[in-house]
Amino acid sequence: MKDIFEKIAANRGPLGEHAKTAHGYFTFPKLEGDISNKMIFRGKERLVWSLNNYLGLANHPEVRKADADAAAKYGMALPMGARMMSGNSDLHEQLEKELAQFESKEDSVLVNFGYQGMVSAIDALVDRHDVIVYDSESHACILDGVRLHMGKRFVYPHNNIENLEKQLERATKMVAETGGGILAITEGVFGMSGDQGKLKEIVELKKKFTFRLFVDDAHGFGTQGKTGAGTGEEQGVQDGIDIYFGTFAKAMASIGGFIATTADVAEFLRYNMRSQIFAKAMPMPLVVGALKRLELLRGQPELQTKLWQIVNALQGGLKEAGFEIGNTQSCVTPVYLNGTIPEATNLILDLRENYDIFCSMVVYPVVPKGIILLRLIPTAVHTMEDVKYTIETFSKVRVNLKAGKYQGNVVTQVLA
Ligand SMILES: Cc1ncc(COP(=O)(O)O)c(C=O)c1O
Repeated sequence: MKDIFEKIAANRGPLGEHAKTAHGYFTFPKLEGDISNKMIFRGKERLVWSLNNYLGLANHPEVRKADADAAAKYGMALPMGARMMSGNSDLHEQLEKELAQFESKEDSVLVNFGYQGMVSAIDALVDRHDVIVYDSESHACILDGVRLHMGKRFVYPHNNIENLEKQLERATKMVAETGGGILAITEGVFGMSGDQGKLKEIVELKKKFTFRLFVDDAHGFGTQGKTGAGTGEEQGVQDGIDIYFGTFAKAMASIGGFIATTADVAEFLRYNMRSQIFAKAMPMPLVVGALKRLELLRGQPELQTKLWQIVNALQGGLKEAGFEIGNTQSCVTPVYLNGTIPEATNLILDLRENYDIFCSMVVYPVVPKGIILLRLIPTAVHTMEDVKYTIETFSKVRVNLKAGKYQGNVVTQVLA
């Protein structure tokens, strides 16, 4: 028998094992000041490429005013209780209606947190007779929803439609026996690589197979499509998405999310999603704030235009400078370099300390060994100078990396 605390003391987990050396710098860094292209990190202003503030709404004066006014008017307590019991309001319902309309769906359901909402919706939608078919590079919230599933699940390699077809064949055979249905789950935009889910091809498969499609469009909502309605709109298949998830935590620069679908399924989710039934409702200022953000997202298309000018300049410039940015089809901008984890750490340190650029790095096991992924999130509040400076700086650090200058143990000295 083992004591749980002793086990924890011995095994810190895949990320926790780095806590001692990385905490406060590589993990849990503190970005201070107003949310913008430049923020304060360790007392100094840095150019920040790590925030999903796609449309620049985080610090938009109208948003700040709406948030502050709503907090003054309602406080953070209202409504008290879960929506089902005592926590419903006209404004919650108005927000759901407006989101549904924006997504060309009959209705939508608010969720307090995107992650929990996804887990809980998957849990509610399927029972042990049903089969889930999902993309191998799905976000943790999809994987964790799938983990709750009591029935069969079949995974297909990322965006591999041929294999998806095979999994749908298997699933079809399986549900013929169980009497269940098939739920296919993928993402609109994959948050690490930035490529889009092949929604068009997946929707096309509905001609051959009977299944419902659930799309997590956390990164696509507000950024993709002519009106910002997301990746379904971008690919012209919004109608083929049966259940659409969007978060408020990225383009809306807030917290919470929604699931838009048919009126019937929305009602079912309202009455069956355990994360919402057994939890207090979204506080009023977040609801009012989301209404304001949605109004700006819909009413100021110039925010999207500005965002995409920055995205195109950054991605085009990086490619021109010979950087490998993979197959991104979204704002998410990965820059792939070759190097070890210590080299990645030292490179990030150099970028932050000597060039005042703050971006996120992703290493093994999220990407293969020997690959360093620098992940940049362009926003509408970045400038063309930011783009130019970043590409010039990246070119310099690439020379250092290739020359072996980031080998060695610089990190502990700086962090000491
Ligand atoms: C694809 C995807 N789904 C869901 C989530 C979770 O959303 P939230 O931050 O609203 O909980 C995220 C956020 O990281 C995401 O990238």
